Amino acid sequence: MTKLKINGEIHTIDVDPEMPLLWAIRDIIGFTGTKFGCGKGFCGACMVLMDGNAVNSCQLPVSAVGENELITVEGQTENLQLLQKSWAEHNVPQCGFCQSGQLITATALLNGNSNPSDEDINNAMVRNICRCGTYPRIKKAINHSVE
Ligand code: FES
Repeated sequence: MTKLKINGEIHTIDVDPEMPLLWAIRDIIGFTGTKFGCGKGFCGACMVLMDGNAVNSCQLPVSAVGENELITVEGQTENLQLLQKSWAEHNVPQCGFCQSGQLITATALLNGNSNPSDEDINNAMVRNICRCGTYPRIKKAINHSVE
């Protein structure tokens, strides 16, 4: 049995310890806001927070999580809520598929830097791909979330 602390609650699951965390989060536990994109660590759709840092859950085996606390886009942290509000105000999503990963990476950025510059935002968000090209609105929403 593996215990995962996700969004403040402990979930006990019986899975292969090598299962990618993404499958455990989506298919076993049911937090489907976290998305499968490339499955190879390139796109960022599967980002979750592990102890406040954004990680690709498609690349991380369940066994690597240990006692670390996970937050998905369904979580309720202060920075994530601030960003979700700003995302809505700036109509960021187009198709929306990548946006939970974008929000998680932006949350990790604000967790470490409460007033990021444009360059900080560019550097942090480079790990997340948006095929609709919503990058300008993402940057605007991050900037306005910290005003
Ligand atoms: Fe994990 Fe693309 S699905 S990085």
